[in-house]
Amino acid sequence: MSSSSSLVFFFFLLISSSCFPSFSEILILPLSHSLSPTHFNSTHHLLKSSSSRSAARFHNHRRQQQLSLPLSAGSDYTLSFNLGTHPPQPVTLYMDTGSDLVWIPCAPFECILCEGKSNPSLFPKPLNVSRSRTVSCKSPACSAAHTSLSSSDLCAISRCPLISIETSDCSSFACPPFYFAYGDGSLIARLYHDSVSISSVFLRNFTFGCAHTTLGEPVGVAGFGRGLLSLPAQLAAFSPQLGHQFSYCLISHSFDKQRVRQPSPLILGRYDEDDKRTDGELVQFVYTPMLENPKHLYLYSVGLAGVSVGKKTIPAPEMLRRLDHRGNGGMVVDSGTTFTMLPASLYNSVVAEFDRRVGRVHERASEVEDETGLGPCYYMGKVKNETKVPTVTLRFEGKESDVVLPRKNYFYEFLYGGYGTGRKKKVGCLMLMNGGDDAELNDGPGATLGNYQQQGFEVVYDLEKQRVGFARRKCASLWDRLNQRN
Ligand SMILES: *[C@@H]1O[C@H](CO)[C@@H](O)[C@H](O)[C@H]1NC(C)=O
Ligand SMILES: *[C@@H]1O[C@H](CO)[C@@H](O)[C@H](O)[C@H]1NC(C)=O
Ligand SMILES: *[C@@H]1O[C@H](CO)[C@@H](O)[C@H](O)[C@H]1NC(C)=O
Ligand SMILES: *[C@@H]1O[C@H](CO)[C@@H](O)[C@H](O)[C@H]1NC(C)=O
Repeated sequence: MSSSSSLVFFFFLLISSSCFPSFSEILILPLSHSLSPTHFNSTHHLLKSSSSRSAARFHNHRRQQQLSLPLSAGSDYTLSFNLGTHPPQPVTLYMDTGSDLVWIPCAPFECILCEGKSNPSLFPKPLNVSRSRTVSCKSPACSAAHTSLSSSDLCAISRCPLISIETSDCSSFACPPFYFAYGDGSLIARLYHDSVSISSVFLRNFTFGCAHTTLGEPVGVAGFGRGLLSLPAQLAAFSPQLGHQFSYCLISHSFDKQRVRQPSPLILGRYDEDDKRTDGELVQFVYTPMLENPKHLYLYSVGLAGVSVGKKTIPAPEMLRRLDHRGNGGMVVDSGTTFTMLPASLYNSVVAEFDRRVGRVHERASEVEDETGLGPCYYMGKVKNETKVPTVTLRFEGKESDVVLPRKNYFYEFLYGGYGTGRKKKVGCLMLMNGGDDAELNDGPGATLGNYQQQGFEVVYDLEKQRVGFARRKCASLWDRLNQRN
């Protein structure tokens, strides 16, 4: 299926077995972590790339009402399935909870300004859609792709005659192409229907966008956001159980090159809390409510009440706790952004408190900060006694909704330098990012929770109860356990 041995594709459908007594159907897919080793020859190049991409995406969520796309080619999670039947064609796409469309590169495919954005050998050939059906201008899917433009407008654009529009007789006129723009890329796509095989689930009539030309986007995207066209929504139409919730458990990635990576489980459908104790861990979820977002319908927004550094809690600005009536504010839970972005006031307070503790003992590594775009960074090797890096806790809105981050989710330690004659030094950087001035953040999300901070948690998107849950888990053993059950 893929030319890369590091991408492993197994598909499983568990149907009501003794280990999952309460729920009839879940679907488990492997998420592969994609790095582009050929283009990132050192840790700090990759860090710089990922951090600036997180920033571009964050600011784009703020400007655009349209769909957005994951920009972190350096450190994203992909899933794979087959499209069509004669013959089935493999597709590998970024899994993105920050958008709601599935789009795929189609042959002939041209990606402008894509050098260094991904390793093309990791991804299948562009799709041949010559046997896929076009989507009608009348279809609700067409309106959804065109940001709710009416069917009559869309059919008029497709040159359906007025009399046919009035008699609802435009079925044979195809949905017009649509345009997406985002942080540092864009694309034009057209909608198609075809069958897909996702594990043993076979959907006859799956709707996806097909792009022949993109700017800066070499890889397609599976949107998991809220909306008609997202992958979970289309699975829900096939089997309601599969659509009630999904979760993933991201295996820690490091920016070290050439590590053999295990797939991270992506679980579609609900499975019982009790079952989650069976692998010897006590798994406890903390939940925070999803906020209805009238402006960015596809986003999973939650309220952030504060951030604790050690025992000190820094309250979040009001804008992060809830959405205003126009849908601005809140924190977006996003699998397609690498690093967490906080508004400047909160970010600066967190950094100041962190620096007050760590900076007392360790020398600041300014050159590392300049090169990676991260900060604050410290030389870690200089003191004999081990300073404790303070715990960072995200305090979400809701009862007991505190998420204590494991240290490696916010403090990345690596060897720096060693080029030429210099010796490598151990450095550590705080892995949070400044999203910009609070005053400028009143038109869009206030913050983003990136995938780096979600590693080692099972993150549940409970669409029925409208909440997001977090539980510390051993993601690799969860994957193994789910496999062994078969
Ligand atoms: C990494 O590659 C870039 C160009 O792609 C080059 O400028 C840089 O010197 C390289 N760094 C190392 C450490 O090889
Ligand atoms: C797609 O496949 C058809 C045969 O099924 C072939 O005739 C056509 O040339 C292919 N198109 C592209 C762009 O490869
Ligand atoms: C596929 O679904 C669309 C709605 O998304 C519908 O209009 C169309 O008739 C369906 N086609 C088939 C073959 O079921
Ligand atoms: C570690 O060293 C710092 C200064 O070098 C000192 O202030 C601190 O008390 C020491 N901690 C312990 C536990 O020895």
